[in-house]
Amino acid sequence: MKIAWWVVWVGLLLVVKIEGGRVRHYKFDVEYMIKKPDCLEHVVMGINGKFPGPTIRAQVGDTLHIALTNKLSTEGTVIHWHGIRQVGTPWADGTAAISQCPINPGETFHYRFKVDKAGTYFYHGHYGMQRAAGLYGSLIVDLAKGEKEPFHYDGEFNLLLSDLWHTSSHEQEVGLSSNPFRWIGEPQSVLINGRGQFNCSLAAKFINTSLPQCKLKGGEECAPQILHVDPNHTYRIRISSTTSLASLNFAISNHKLTVVEADGNYVEPFTVDDIDIYSGESYSVLLTTDQDPTKNYWLSVGVRARKPPIPQQVLTALTLLNYKNISASVFPASPPPVTPQWDDFERSKAFTKKIIANKMMTPQPPRYSHRRIVLLNTQNKIQGFIKWAINNVSLSLPTTPYLGSMKFKLNNTFDRTPPPENFPSDYDIFNPPVNANATTGNGVYVFRLKEVVDVILQNANQLTGKGSEIHPWHLHGHDFWVLGYGEGKFKAGEDEKRFNLTHAPLRNTAVIFPYGWTALRFKADNPGVWAFHCHIEPHLHMGMGVIFAEALHKVRNIPSQALACGLTAINARH
Ligand code: C2O
Ligand code: CU
Repeated sequence: MKIAWWVVWVGLLLVVKIEGGRVRHYKFDVEYMIKKPDCLEHVVMGINGKFPGPTIRAQVGDTLHIALTNKLSTEGTVIHWHGIRQVGTPWADGTAAISQCPINPGETFHYRFKVDKAGTYFYHGHYGMQRAAGLYGSLIVDLAKGEKEPFHYDGEFNLLLSDLWHTSSHEQEVGLSSNPFRWIGEPQSVLINGRGQFNCSLAAKFINTSLPQCKLKGGEECAPQILHVDPNHTYRIRISSTTSLASLNFAISNHKLTVVEADGNYVEPFTVDDIDIYSGESYSVLLTTDQDPTKNYWLSVGVRARKPPIPQQVLTALTLLNYKNISASVFPASPPPVTPQWDDFERSKAFTKKIIANKMMTPQPPRYSHRRIVLLNTQNKIQGFIKWAINNVSLSLPTTPYLGSMKFKLNNTFDRTPPPENFPSDYDIFNPPVNANATTGNGVYVFRLKEVVDVILQNANQLTGKGSEIHPWHLHGHDFWVLGYGEGKFKAGEDEKRFNLTHAPLRNTAVIFPYGWTALRFKADNPGVWAFHCHIEPHLHMGMGVIFAEALHKVRNIPSQALACGLTAINARH
């Protein structure tokens, strides 16, 4: 049979069209606004008059073009697309002083990048503490047309979780960088899609619907978004956390949750009553509405992992799962699910360890790594100021963004001494540091293209007294395989034998538990400069991060807009 030449041509064109995806244009105006996220008035950062910012929804293969205008009058801004790897576009990662210069008031920056993997993501400010100020929103990537998820569902919901303080992010920032040090304290409210109820949520355990501040219905801007469902259907609930600080637990009364996605990667499905979610993580869970359809049920998001300021009063955000055949104003007969004990870390670990890769859907890690870096997480004192440090170096970002200064090999832009790849073997992680002194620095861990790198995150005791916190670490530009979690100090020979090399989940965020270690593996296959840091906003602000760079010679076409500050401003003009 002979096929006409034009049939071949049209066919080819179609393929190019599908493969190339489409360009989706967005115009984002970032500004401060007065809103009532938890029923009280606050100044928050919003986009196009909205808080949280608009949800971006795209398909695999699409290119997003976001024209971001800074409408703040006195400060710069940038937006990071959390979970998007930015393959080929490291300058669009949206990290101030790393991938670009902050966008000046009145100016517009054009982010152009491809979304190459389906999943639940979000975006947020990455300059100063603008994420804490409310600069965030959701980014959902759907499969390309014709492709099917490996599970079935009839409908979906998207819940972006965050925490809110009654002090401004500026006040927090000043307090954190002051001597005496002023900690931000625990949040006043937890928000679901930017909505919460101050004080009402505090009373979750003894919920009294006659409290005037418990505006669970009505059209107020703080009224919770209710999930309206049909009986005997399956729903996909996308959950992501962009909290500044809080570790959260998510549960729906009487309903089981089947976890199917973590950070934009499929996991081996498992069913639980509740999930823990740390800042920087995202999940999809499936919920089947198989309970009594003449009732409504609580959806509860409570704080864990840090001691509640008022014992027994767990800060909670609530909304309802409403079976559509009855009114959404019918309150559940029983109280909301109780958030698990804040310090039951064994429970937290048990949940985290359930997350393993779906082998059919997730590539497995290379068998061996070329290099291992061990990162000790400690609280330190530098000239009287309290900081977080990694191998005794507290990150302080340079004025010239790394991407441009490394690409153009500029001098005097950052510390050329490579940061330490380990810590003294006699360091006692179970006690406060003997010598709390550390240094500030901005050196870079440089990797060869395609180098396979193991990172061991090592937790330790806090600055004074006994205690060790949870830190969710997030890597830009990559997903990493989580090879394992362990207790105490990482023991090279022994612990690496137990690495999970067959079902390692791919993620972009992983926690270290108190006094424990977490082992990650990634391939340095994405030319660029990438932040790797604790996703707790005040911790990052206090220096809890490092900088990775790989194959700068392969980086092309950095837009001049990304280079308009520091020493790149002069050198980029050629
Ligand atoms: Cu969502 Cu560098 O962070
Ligand atoms: Cu931290």
